[in-house]
Amino acid sequence: MARARVHQHVNPLAKYFRELPVEPLDPEDVFDDASLPLHLDIGCARGRFILEMARIEKGWNFLGVEIREPLVDDANKIRDDENLGNLHYGFCNATFDLRELLKDVPEGILKAVTIQFPDPWFKKRHAKRRMVKGSMVRSILRHLADDGTVLLQTDVDFVAEEMLGEFLRTGEFEMEKLDENPIAVKTEREIAVENKGLPVYRYLLRRK
Ligand SMILES: C[S@@+](CC[C@H](N)C(=O)[O-])C[C@H]1O[C@@H](n2cnc3c(N)ncnc32)[C@H](O)[C@@H]1O
Repeated sequence: MARARVHQHVNPLAKYFRELPVEPLDPEDVFDDASLPLHLDIGCARGRFILEMARIEKGWNFLGVEIREPLVDDANKIRDDENLGNLHYGFCNATFDLRELLKDVPEGILKAVTIQFPDPWFKKRHAKRRMVKGSMVRSILRHLADDGTVLLQTDVDFVAEEMLGEFLRTGEFEMEKLDENPIAVKTEREIAVENKGLPVYRYLLRRK
């Protein structure tokens, strides 16, 4: 069967992607044990990072969100094939939809957030399409547990500064610059970047 064509990039500011019919996620519906701590991976692409995490970390639930729907459908099929009750992928525009998506997630459950190698949208006129915006950071803050962490990674220096700036501007986070990735599993983009010998900018944020 032919696979649907997956666009390499979609414009998150296009009307269609600003008006996605996103419904609140009920952890009871998608996870075997909804009381486990939740790890949210934002912009998960094919979702292989959290797939591997879900295989090895049975004491956590993993939620990947992605704006390219065919990738989400394929990833959920793999989840079903492997019968992983601690993994789910959601189709949404993370810049605008996290507040609604996470609305019914009980307080204190969201313990880890990863934002890894988001699209840089290099051209100045496309900069508005970058994923991390103040409203998204506020949605994360609303749900992040008191002892929760946010890991940011990118190989693009100005994207690192921009993302970090959005989080620190809230005054609610303290930041640690990391030389190594504290997570054992690497994302697909991280592996590609490391193979090219490029630097990776990494920051771990904790609530103050
Ligand atoms: C360069 S890829 C990196 C994927 C993965 N995190 C990794 O490190 O291998 C960035 C991903 O973020 C997704 N993305 C971009 N903007 C998004 C948005 N507003 N909401 C959700 N996903 C988004 C893209 O479709 C793409 O799959």
